[in-house]
Amino acid sequence: MQKRLKVLAIETSCDETAAAIVSGFQNQGAISDTVIHSNVVASQAALHERFGGVFPEVAAREHVKAILPTIRLALHEGLGSDDPAALRTLNALAVTVGPGLIGSLLVGVETANALALSSQLPLVGINHMAGHFYSTFVPKPLRFPVLALLVSGGHTQLVWSAHPNQFKILGTTRDDAVGEAFDKAAALLGLPYPGGSQIEHLAHNAEQPTPFPVTRLEAYAFSYSGLKTALRREMEKHPHPTPGERANLAAGFQEAALKQLVEQTRAAASQHQPATVVVGGGVSINKQLREKLSDALSPLPVHFPDPALTGDNAAMIGVAALWHSLKQPLKERYDLKAEASLQLA
Ligand code: KG4
Ligand code: ZN
Repeated sequence: MQKRLKVLAIETSCDETAAAIVSGFQNQGAISDTVIHSNVVASQAALHERFGGVFPEVAAREHVKAILPTIRLALHEGLGSDDPAALRTLNALAVTVGPGLIGSLLVGVETANALALSSQLPLVGINHMAGHFYSTFVPKPLRFPVLALLVSGGHTQLVWSAHPNQFKILGTTRDDAVGEAFDKAAALLGLPYPGGSQIEHLAHNAEQPTPFPVTRLEAYAFSYSGLKTALRREMEKHPHPTPGERANLAAGFQEAALKQLVEQTRAAASQHQPATVVVGGGVSINKQLREKLSDALSPLPVHFPDPALTGDNAAMIGVAALWHSLKQPLKERYDLKAEASLQLA
């Protein structure tokens, strides 16, 4: 029998305070017809810009200030009321328990524990990376087995999911995450944090992308330290690049960074033969990545999240919670713990 489940989800793993209401049908081992009723994200990016990255103490304090207004707004937009009685129309609460900055995670997790206690609603803890994975399952389920490339500021992972809620890490980065490499490259080029979108934007103006070597590694490892050093060397040779030269450097960096992602994903797809390939995380908004990966894997379908679901948000945590409910019945609990280094598999 079909049953529509509606959840309030909370996400505070890094520098975005987020809350969302999502619902979907539990239907023959899958969640279908997923609807995002609200998706509120209060970003602290502007605050961290002057530090050139996320300042953990500041992030935690900002989450404390923003969490209740963010939840209220998500309830108001998603349920038409932020009255506590509106919570009774929900089936469960969900929150990111890790991985992430411990001070940031704690704000979301303890708020969720308290809300669960006061509302007597079931509560489920979600892995942030599972959220990025399921961000591509909106509005409809995709066919398993799924090969996922998860690319964010903290992670670069190739993940194999043979069945819903089962994850196996095929490969990961040896040093920086790809988003982090974009952020560091942007800093070298004098662009503000977060740098991924800045690099992509600047690269548009390139006439002749600077050639950078692509680090070739065993299946399915990633590494960005060599590329970062190559960019730094290039900058040392030309400490005052013209706008055109900066654009060429940004485009060359982007090309080499994305090429490694595309090559390793193509190798994993040809060895493992997935039914579907998905890409999630902040870097998955990158247009070059979308085009290059879709071309390289054609005719295999590659699914990318809606742009609003690429960066950190709570809607993806809600979607992951709906899928989690297929594995384990939702239960009342107020004892979730935050885990900074939580693994997906
Ligand atoms: O998933 P996300 O929002 O946060 C984490 O879980 O880390 O990912 C943020 C990362 C940042 O490193 C940011 O620079 C990168 O995603 N990013 C991009 C683009 N937009 C954001 N990287 C490349 N191209 C973009 N357009
Ligand atoms: Zn993320």
